[in-house]
Amino acid sequence: MLQQKIIILDFGSQTTQLIARRVRELDTFCEILPYNKFPADDPSVIGVILSGSPFSVHDPDAFRVDLSQFLGRVPVLGICYGAQFIAHTLGGKVEKADSREYGRASLESVDTSNPLFLGFQPDSQVWMSHGDTITAIPEGFETIASTKNVRNAAYWCPSPNLSPLTSHHSPLFAVQFHPEVYHTLQGLQLLRNFVVGICGSRQEWSAASFVDTTVAQLREQLGEDRVILGLSGGVDSSVAAVLLNRAIGSRLTCIFVDHGMLRKNEAQQVIRDYQGLGLNVVAVDASQQFFNDLSGITDPEQKRKIIGRDFVEVFNAEARKIVNSKSENSKCRWLAQGTIYPDRIESLNITGKVIKSHHNVGGLPKEMNLQLCEPLKWLFKDEVRRVGRQLGMPEHLINRHPFPGPGLAVRILGDITPEKVRMLQDADDIFISALRSYVDTDGQTLYNKVWQAGAILLSTVRSVGVMGDERTYEHPVALRAVTSTDAMTADWAHLPYDLLAHVSNEIINKVRGVNRVCYDISSKPPATIEWE
Ligand code: XMP
Repeated sequence: MLQQKIIILDFGSQTTQLIARRVRELDTFCEILPYNKFPADDPSVIGVILSGSPFSVHDPDAFRVDLSQFLGRVPVLGICYGAQFIAHTLGGKVEKADSREYGRASLESVDTSNPLFLGFQPDSQVWMSHGDTITAIPEGFETIASTKNVRNAAYWCPSPNLSPLTSHHSPLFAVQFHPEVYHTLQGLQLLRNFVVGICGSRQEWSAASFVDTTVAQLREQLGEDRVILGLSGGVDSSVAAVLLNRAIGSRLTCIFVDHGMLRKNEAQQVIRDYQGLGLNVVAVDASQQFFNDLSGITDPEQKRKIIGRDFVEVFNAEARKIVNSKSENSKCRWLAQGTIYPDRIESLNITGKVIKSHHNVGGLPKEMNLQLCEPLKWLFKDEVRRVGRQLGMPEHLINRHPFPGPGLAVRILGDITPEKVRMLQDADDIFISALRSYVDTDGQTLYNKVWQAGAILLSTVRSVGVMGDERTYEHPVALRAVTSTDAMTADWAHLPYDLLAHVSNEIINKVRGVNRVCYDISSKPPATIEWE
């Protein structure tokens, strides 16, 4: 049976991704496409959603779409600009609102017998954000919800026929508010009504179905070929590896490069975990090369460049061995990566041009002639985690915090030496272990409640202290823990004082060379998550 799909046409709104995430929450597959890239003749499309936009329909540069490609053929939902564009195009009227309509509003009249509003409460709160407003809807259309200031907050047409020749009769719905945002309290109900009730989604998109279909597709795509994958210890590359392993077993070779600046014991732990999962892992301890090349370097960007360059060099040397190795009837033709959906959406602007390419492993030499295999490219991060659980991966691999590629090198201010890395690893380990074992009042560990945490060694700073009867003159360690949803913005985590007191005592007593602990209370922006 065909996998059903909702198409979200993107007119450039900041909340387009959120629409997709909500549809996926309804166990329905969906794809975001630029507004002008509707896939004609795709029988798996069961509905279309038109997103909002930064434009007004009256802007000369506003994005326009030929509605006849889908209107009447499958159910359509226009959101904000989508609603205004449809009204404007089909003979309604869109005008500048007297005042910009922004923020919370409540639906004063709503037709709860309409399929879009089934289950709605009177006065349901919605979120508005628009400068134009629909002052007249097209002939034959009907208003189904209003707020105090917005008469046509929602409208519909049970059978919008653009051409007298067509025999399709799918309904059209349009809302000027944003059902995808949290502040629209029954937004998910509205989207459920559309996706399940109106479009007829069978709600079959689940981690289990994803694993089954992806494993089958990978087997078909890869045949007898061998595949290389760079493992970082992070969630995405780990889940990609386990998925590929399920599809092609030992024909997948994973390369894990240890640059010597991971967390305490992490390299060994990660390798053990991977082997426990049955992965075929080549682990390369290249720490000596990285330490040599970083010696005396203090500039953060230079540190990153050197680590990036060395990483590619070490990875490529291993990859080349695998590509060149002789095997009877199977050749290595693929490089697999854990690229996920947000990486790709951010790479595409709505005109479909690539503005930034994502390559976890940069610059593979052309002569290796490898094609890219990205089995997670349709998933959001929370879906990657669900797939990981479905594949039986241990929870500590799935819930691991993000960690920067250059590792502790960008958490040591000043030059890097193996001794400083050891000091920082010890301090960081005390902090992270405390977060893991602190269970908050809601039953969750603090480790799982924060987005990311770690220690920073201020090796360019010394301060005076006293230990026993001795004067000390040593380095401070800063602790950083932040809450975030996407790392674009972050707030410092309001950790309990008793935890901070315990961690501070432990670090000062146990980590030689550290006599002071500070807690970083800066948010991003204007600070960043990492110090370098
Ligand atoms: P900032 O410091 O920019 O970090 O607020 C945002 C997120 O990106 C991670 N980060 C990196 N990840 N290579 C990486 O792979 C890097 O050079 C790098 N620098 C920052 C950081 O840990 C946070 O999750």
